[in-house]
Parts: sequence; C-alpha cells; structure tokens
Amino acid sequence: MSIDSQHPIGVFDSGIGGLSVLQALQKELPHERFVYLADNAHAPYGEKTDLYVRQRTHAIAEHLLAQHQIKALVVACNTATAAAIHELRARHPQLPLVGVEPALKPALALSQTGHIGVMATRGTVASDKFARLLASVQSEAHFEVLACNGLASAIEHSTLPDQAQAAQAQIAHLLQTYTQAMGRFGCAPGDIDTLVLGCTHYVFVEKDLRQMLGPHVQLVSTGEPVARQTHRLLAAAQLLNTKATHGAAQPMRLMTTGDLQGLQAAAQRWLGLPPEFCEAVPTLLS
Ligand code: DGL
Repeated sequence: MSIDSQHPIGVFDSGIGGLSVLQALQKELPHERFVYLADNAHAPYGEKTDLYVRQRTHAIAEHLLAQHQIKALVVACNTATAAAIHELRARHPQLPLVGVEPALKPALALSQTGHIGVMATRGTVASDKFARLLASVQSEAHFEVLACNGLASAIEHSTLPDQAQAAQAQIAHLLQTYTQAMGRFGCAPGDIDTLVLGCTHYVFVEKDLRQMLGPHVQLVSTGEPVARQTHRLLAAAQLLNTKATHGAAQPMRLMTTGDLQGLQAAAQRWLGLPPEFCEAVPTLLS
C-alpha cells in the first residue's frame, strides 16, 4: 500500500502516557490527523518482559498500518522504544518512525551541578539501549537512575473518578520515596539540579514533582523534541500536511484496548477532547 500525506500519523503507548507526546505533536503539526492507541489492557509495559513488549509493539504497528493506513508511527513510550524500535525499523523500512528515549543528553546540557536524576520504568532502565545511552554520557556527569515501579499505573488510575483519590495519595507516596532515594535536590554543589522524566506518563505528575523539589530543579521530558523530529521526518519524506486538508475527517481518534472511561477522562483532562473522540478496541490483539 502506498503512503499518502493525507493519511494519519499513528501514535501509541501502553496507556495514557503517550498523550503527553500527542499534545506536543498536535502543537507542532496542527494540520495533521492522528490516531492514538493506548494499550491499557496490557499495561504496564515497564513491568513486563522484553519479549512481551516487543510482541505488543509489533501487533499494534501492524494494526495501525492495516486498519488506519498510518503514514508515520510515533512510539510514545520509552519502554517500547527500548525493547522494539530496532526490530520495527527492520520490519518497516519505508515507514517514518520516531521513538522516545530518556533525555540524558539534553539534561547534560542543562545541569550546572553535574548531578542528574533519571526516573524511568524498570524495562527501560534494564534495557541494552538505555545502557548504551548511559555509557555514552556517564563520564560527563553523575547520573542517579531509578526504576520507578508502580508509578505509571498510579498515574493511569488517577484519571478514573472512583480511584482518583487513592491513586493521588499513591503518587505522592511513590514520588516522595523515589526522589528521596535519589539524593538531595537543589542547586548547591553535589545536589541533583536536573531530573529526567524517562517515561511518558511522568509528565503528568510534573506539577507534583515541582512542588516537592522546588523551583530550581529542571524537569526534562521529550514531547517537544519528538514532535520536532516527526516534523523533520515527514518533511524529508514529503508527507507533511502544510494546510488543513482533513475537512470533515476527525483530526484525532483515540483508542484503547482497555477501559474506555479512563481514556476519555484523560483525553478530556489533558487534551480538552470530548468523549466521542475515544473508542474501545477490545478485540484488538488480545
Ligand atoms: N509510558 C511508558 C514509557 O514511557 C511506559 C509505562 C508502562 O506501561 O510501564 O515507558
């Protein structure tokens, strides 16, 4: 099948975390259509095996290509990128493909104290891809890397009205525990002055972290650079939509393999989208 500039861009994550990347994509590429897939029924990826995450990633990519004729794919998940991006590139050499990885290099450029914290999922932290990334910058700063089990799930639950309160308390507890385990934050010598949010879900607790760590600690995420990279790749492949041509076609379509209400609440809260933009795809790839 030929790829057409009118086709949508596919974006996926294990859940709602990738909506933080979708926000940046929408801002950078306002004339594009997007289809977003949240694989909630199989989350959290960060606490699954590498093989499992690779299988899910391939199944989702195939689905988005076959059912939605996507012209590009953004893997809005650090864990899936670490586990599967190399295989995806090999399987789909024609498809513009963008992944996300913890922003260690940008953090290096920002840090004054040379002490940098990194929060990510267990899967990302344990991956060979992350080990190579860390090795490439390790001599230039001190990195405190922490696998934050349970945090992505708590963020997922925080969007569900009946679970929000308990999830919020859990988020506060986990953030407190994990940041304390990393060391002292601040701008004095030896303090961690830069914190990398190495999971797309964590962007949604930026405010909580800011309150906890104070105004001087820089929080680094990857939505904007990923959106710019997607823009560059589409332009290079001559697949960019430079003006709104989707007319009556819905500019945004959000799908979940899990709970529809959770996705609807998150889409409303973070993207201002009405519930009818979301649908469940329960039969997808169980
Ligand atoms: N949002 C994902 C990431 O960036 C993973 C969260 C999870 O499912 O563990 O790694």
